[in-house]
Amino acid sequence: MNVLLIGDGGREHAIAWKLKDSADLKRLFIAPGNAGTASCGTNVNLKLNNATEVINFATDNQIDLVIIGPAEPVEAGLSDALTNAGIAVFAPSKAAGQIESNKAFAKQFLTQHNLPTARYATFTDYHAACEYLAELAYPFVIKAAGLADGKGAVLPQTFTEAKLVLRDLLLDKRLGHAGQEVIIEERLEGEEVSLLAFSDGTTLSPMPTAQDHKRLRDGGLGPNTGGMGAFAPVPIVSKDLVDTIIKDIMQPTVDGMREAGMPFVGVLYAGVILTDNGPQILEYNARFGDPEAQVILSLLKSDLLGIMNACVDGTLANTKIDWYDEAAACVVMAADGYPNAYATGIAITGLEAATTKYSEVFHSGTNIVSDGVVSAGGRVLGVTGWGKDFQAAITHAYEAVSKISFVGAQYRKDIGARAIVSD
Ligand code: AMP
Ligand code: GLY
Repeated sequence: MNVLLIGDGGREHAIAWKLKDSADLKRLFIAPGNAGTASCGTNVNLKLNNATEVINFATDNQIDLVIIGPAEPVEAGLSDALTNAGIAVFAPSKAAGQIESNKAFAKQFLTQHNLPTARYATFTDYHAACEYLAELAYPFVIKAAGLADGKGAVLPQTFTEAKLVLRDLLLDKRLGHAGQEVIIEERLEGEEVSLLAFSDGTTLSPMPTAQDHKRLRDGGLGPNTGGMGAFAPVPIVSKDLVDTIIKDIMQPTVDGMREAGMPFVGVLYAGVILTDNGPQILEYNARFGDPEAQVILSLLKSDLLGIMNACVDGTLANTKIDWYDEAAACVVMAADGYPNAYATGIAITGLEAATTKYSEVFHSGTNIVSDGVVSAGGRVLGVTGWGKDFQAAITHAYEAVSKISFVGAQYRKDIGARAIVSD
């Protein structure tokens, strides 16, 4: 099969790295890709906001399957355009993708189906939102309804701070269209876990659970980021709990979407919080997480392309998926200044030495230049290690990190520490 993978982050490098071992893969193209994906296939410079360009490339190169990594092209309608052109796509339609791209839709869907999620209200008017907050008798979270790259949720400490957040989103429009509508929801307490599952629209096949590290600094301090590291599987989550989340929350979600005429095909990612009242959904994503994909796919034993084909063909129920009974940890190395403004074009050294039998460097924001690899994003690398247990995985990841250097590199030193504590 010839495959076109859309995206340019660490998630896409991890997908490409796994696909290149697939028995049925003939040619792999990545658009636009990064310095890491270039070692798994051919990077091509396509304008992703121009569906015609993608369709023409797919037709000219006899592409059998397009895989869309990020959420934005789905929201822009790329999967629908490809489907209409008769090209198979591993990604949800724009309508199904709303489960991520429109939090107001997602909350309404969850509530309508009686699925566990925090109490909420939505607002587009600043004054109405402030009035509601003034009356609210419980701690709350404010979220932009649209796609905000993991930075759309704020947990204000005071009413004054909350008003500033609302002003920022609704009046100053810092996130533009994505923040035109806000969700105000009850703040829940508990451990957070990501449960991702392959979906063919009917059947779900869960992956190992993962835990992201969203804050910039050790100990969960500092600002929110797209994710500074991850580990998998999460020791505190038993197989029974995974089964419960699938049976009571994710399966009814997929069933409800199919019944509403928008079958969900692709990766359904549930951001779950384990409260005293049981698991509740914080958010759904309609794709692999980044950096969750880096740890989860390191643990995948089965052929990824085969699984993705089964999702597209609707035959996931007959597809056995095997995972290594091991642990994996990913440490994100970010540019100086991230998650705020940062420089790019910084030379990176030590990449080859960091790739071993037990570690892989997934590139998030990199570019190839004449004399090597340079940074090209805020999150630069996702250095991933694996092994028979967490101690081994974490050691392998940090050994690899120690071999890499670039000016201003910042990374957390405590990735996976919680896995050890609860091991
Ligand atoms: P989201 O983008 O909705 O996943 O929110 C990002 C992060 O904000 C989550 O991973 C949580 O840490 C936090 N968060 C979001 N919603 C809530 C909530 N209702 N209660 C507590 N924390 C939340
Ligand atoms: N790491 C969080 C996400 O991909 O949404």
